[in-house]
Amino acid sequence: MSKVSIIGAGMTGSTTAHWLAEREIADLVLVDILEGMPQGKALDLLEALPIVGRDVSVVGSNDYAATKGSDIVVITAGIPRKPGMSREDLLTTNAKIVGDATTNSLEHSPDAIIIVLTNPLDTMAYLAMKVGRLPRERIVGQAGVLDSARMRAFVALETGVSVENIQCYVMGGHGDEMVPLTRHSNIAGVPLRDYLPADKLEAIVNRTRKGGGEIVNLLKTGSAYYAPAAAVAQMVEAILKDKRLVVPAAAFMQGEYGLKDIFFGAPVQLGRGGVEKVIEYKLEADEEAALEASAAAVRESIGVMMGLVKI
Ligand code: NAI
Ligand code: 2OP
Repeated sequence: MSKVSIIGAGMTGSTTAHWLAEREIADLVLVDILEGMPQGKALDLLEALPIVGRDVSVVGSNDYAATKGSDIVVITAGIPRKPGMSREDLLTTNAKIVGDATTNSLEHSPDAIIIVLTNPLDTMAYLAMKVGRLPRERIVGQAGVLDSARMRAFVALETGVSVENIQCYVMGGHGDEMVPLTRHSNIAGVPLRDYLPADKLEAIVNRTRKGGGEIVNLLKTGSAYYAPAAAVAQMVEAILKDKRLVVPAAAFMQGEYGLKDIFFGAPVQLGRGGVEKVIEYKLEADEEAALEASAAAVRESIGVMMGLVKI
């Protein structure tokens, strides 16, 4: 059985464990700094497994030794947003947490593939890559699966068509400048632009961009977790089963889309080797301009982080 460790057993971490246990694809370890919390959540989840009929091990710990030999480490440790906060407001606190989580995880699992969830996502993935001195194949950030799923859900609400028939692609950084690609998104092959009137489509694009904030404003005490965790579970499964699944995700850019030395959301092929390929769309001028604006925001965030953290 493969082994997946999740650092940070809060809302997204424990929900990721839940979705993964349901998939029965890996033994699971939850690590958190809070004493008793990861142990309690792991035991509770373990006790649910006879009911749902899944045979995996679930362990909670405050000690990274429990993560030894993990195939994948998911980093969710850090603070989430509260109303009025942007993802960037989390940078100072989360940079230290993600740096430590990366170092400690790799000490016990030197060959693990790392999936970062902590915000600000593209910057935290960049930090983890640099701290861990990882090749780009072994580190990926979760954002695009979630952002695209939000767009798919909004299109389904508008049209009444099954979510399974709706394919949407959101590229760019995981901020409000993200770029929902309406030209590539479709309903059963029919371009979204042909299916929906322009005003409805624009409303969906805007709601997608602000989708994270919409949940924060409703919850008031934290941010989304069901959909983000389901997104991570899909990425974990793609890697462990070597599916070569193409998903929108944050990868280290090496010239793709004219971008270098930043993490950025793009279609990424995930398999047992991790990030096996970054796929390039042919873009039109307005799409390129929107992506450049998003890249500028990511570059700025990385610049701020590099001024705070010594790597
Ligand atoms: P949460 O507050 O429920 O859980 C975070 C956990 O991290 C807490 O249990 C905390 O004790 C733990 N933690 C803090 N410092 C730690 C350390 N040094 N080592 C181990 N654990 C540590 O927050 P939630 O909702 O799980 O969100 C976690 C992060 O994920 C936030 O930064 C949030 O913004 C981000 N996020 C990103 C998404 C994305 O799409 N990329 C989606 C949802 C959340
Ligand atoms: C979201 O988009 C908090 O980044 C997270 O829900």
